[in-house]
Amino acid sequence: MKAIIAAGGRATRLRPITSTINKHLIPLANKPLLCYAIEKLADVGIKEIGINVNPGETEIQKACGDGSRWGVKLTYIEQVGGPTGIGRIPLGAEKFLGDEPFIYYLGDNIILGGLQRFVERFEKDKLDCLLALSKVHDPQRFGVPVIENGRIIRVDEKPKQPQSDFAVTGIYIYNQRYFEAARAIQPSARGEYEISDVHTWLIAKGYAVGYEEITGWWKDTGKPEDLIEGNQLILTEMQGRGVENEGEVEAGASLTGWVKIGKGSRIGSRAVVRGPVIIGEQAVIENAYVGPYTSIGNGVEIYNSEVERSIVCNQVDINCNRRIVDSILGVNANITAASATLPAGHRLVVGDNSVVEL
Ligand code: G1P
Repeated sequence: MKAIIAAGGRATRLRPITSTINKHLIPLANKPLLCYAIEKLADVGIKEIGINVNPGETEIQKACGDGSRWGVKLTYIEQVGGPTGIGRIPLGAEKFLGDEPFIYYLGDNIILGGLQRFVERFEKDKLDCLLALSKVHDPQRFGVPVIENGRIIRVDEKPKQPQSDFAVTGIYIYNQRYFEAARAIQPSARGEYEISDVHTWLIAKGYAVGYEEITGWWKDTGKPEDLIEGNQLILTEMQGRGVENEGEVEAGASLTGWVKIGKGSRIGSRAVVRGPVIIGEQAVIENAYVGPYTSIGNGVEIYNSEVERSIVCNQVDINCNRRIVDSILGVNANITAASATLPAGHRLVVGDNSVVEL
């Protein structure tokens, strides 16, 4: 079995972070989102993974390389014909995928647990398509299955009145029937080839479409709050491990809960860190509080401030006498105290589409 990961798109709802970085490279617990998808696929023994990328973009290739670090071979496949919708992405990878069944994984999805159960079910029941479902509070944001007598009879894409409280997640397994369906469907009202229409088409043709429920958590990281929550979920999972400290903790610093500290990082004597927290390499935390569910990237410096439940990317400087919560700070962001210079007031250099709550 091969796999194809969708890692293109514009991710406008995550601007301005996605103005400078492909969404799939946003770090959760200091690791790009896309790496989680590759890991899950490698874990079920998949050796060849195609990654759908935006034409001309090279940052994903630079970040993931040839895949050898996961024991897989990565093939980058540029999106052709513009953004036509995720229903058609595997169609553009038809040659790469060949005749075998394949897993289609939307690279912005993260799940707890592995894919083994889904692969086994697909093979055991000789399905044409297997959908991984997850119970959600807001099904109208997703593809929603209409289930009757234990069978999916239709999938509605982002319905105003959802017929169930399940979402069809971005993890699908197909055989060759997928290609028939993808060629047959028409664009939706928003001009996209919808993956839900592929599924409804397969069902209408009488092909075997089964489903499995994801029992742990699942997150589609479409909005900033989703990233913050995803970061929290991953750190919560990591905290089962022992403390991993490769940095320097000065006498007097207070560390509680699970805290991972990378090489060359320093936690100053008046710092308080409450895990689960991950701190990258060459970071400094001094006279500051870092609270639960925070990821701190490489080269970050935090002085005289408090940060909690946030994603702090590489090289960010924070020195502001304030408490920052539920935030995403992009690479090189600099948060300083207004009192340092006169006239007092908030001096902002804020990129397009930024969100600042003062
Ligand atoms: C896409 C699909 C939707 C699916 C979701 C899962 O939506 O269109 O059917 O439920 O992925 O992540 P998007 O996140 O692109 O809006």
